[in-house]
Amino acid sequence: MSEQPTIEVRNLRTHFFTKAGVVKAVDDVSFSVGKGRILGLVGESGSGKSVTGFSIMGLVDPPGRVAGGEILFQGRDLAKLSEEEMRKIRGARIAMIFQDPMMTLNPVLRIDTQMIETVLAHDKVSEAEARKRARAALVQVGIPSPDERLKAYPHQFSGGMRQRVAIAIALLHKPELIIADEPTTALDVTIQGQILFEVQKLCRESGTSLIWITHDLSVVAGLADEICVMYASRIVEKGTVDEVLDHPLHPYTRGLIGSVPSRNVRGRPLAQIPGMTPSLLNLPPGCAFRARCPRASEACLVEPEMTAPLPNREVRCFHPHLETVAA
Ligand SMILES: Nc1ncnc2c1ncn2[C@@H]1O[C@H](COP(=O)(O)OP(=O)(O)OP(=O)(O)O)[C@@H](O)[C@H]1O
Ligand code: SF4
Ligand SMILES: [Mg+2]
Repeated sequence: MSEQPTIEVRNLRTHFFTKAGVVKAVDDVSFSVGKGRILGLVGESGSGKSVTGFSIMGLVDPPGRVAGGEILFQGRDLAKLSEEEMRKIRGARIAMIFQDPMMTLNPVLRIDTQMIETVLAHDKVSEAEARKRARAALVQVGIPSPDERLKAYPHQFSGGMRQRVAIAIALLHKPELIIADEPTTALDVTIQGQILFEVQKLCRESGTSLIWITHDLSVVAGLADEICVMYASRIVEKGTVDEVLDHPLHPYTRGLIGSVPSRNVRGRPLAQIPGMTPSLLNLPPGCAFRARCPRASEACLVEPEMTAPLPNREVRCFHPHLETVAA
């Protein structure tokens, strides 16, 4: 990969300075996504996935802030931009799709009004041209009778259709990067599959890079090129989807995969790995997974660093499952 990645996050730290103490929601997170590539960001609830997405978007509110690291978007550090500069990028060049489409949609405005306003916010085009683009975006996400649908209000759509509209809005400016934060979790499995298929196709065709956030490993199995597994604010394993799923190195990833019945079954949540995610406020020293880890040893009382024990594989563990790869 000699080409510059669309997004490169280096040693990102996003902390919440609360009365109870500092919550290190994202701690030393690094990854990059190339043009037209799809990264799956996977982990249990509270592991820091959404905060990672919000950090890239510049949407972390006090008492939280990006406390360190770089967020290089086509080589430019977003963490250093002013709110005004960030506003120009947000929506036009980097778009976010949320779990709840009503985070994007305005309930009291017709779909055409919202979409046309979105186009005009960043592009000096005529209203007729903006309408044409809005219509094309609805067609792109597989919405039937787009002319009719443009005149409707959000409440006149089903949940799946509403999410498609939110995705269409994210696509309006042909962003270079889309961050999708569990947008299909609430949807029916069939609709989820259709949306994943369409989004994947769009990325391949338009060269858009995608970060797909999910707690559901089976979703990224069919969608992503690379996976980052997060645990307690950190990335614990990174690699191509096939390698990570076929030969997981980290005991946590192994636990996650053990809980997915089949790589072809979508939409099933992860079964529980025994134990609880530790509180980020009082993380014990050493490896954060220690209390739940079948491989834990004395060595794990020290914080493990990210290492690359095999080509193109990274893992944060003293005792990775290298034996599964040897064969
Ligand atoms: N405003 C806030 N103030 C304090 N802590 C926060 C705040 N927002 C998030 N956090 C903490 O940051 C951590 C990471 O949260 P985040 O929302 O990124 O998790 P997640 O991986 O997206 O989980 P989920 O799967 O439930 O969406 C959590 O421990 C959460 O308590
Ligand atoms: S470092 Fe130790 S405790 Fe942590 S995951 Fe690896 S083996 Fe388990
Ligand atoms: Mg989240």
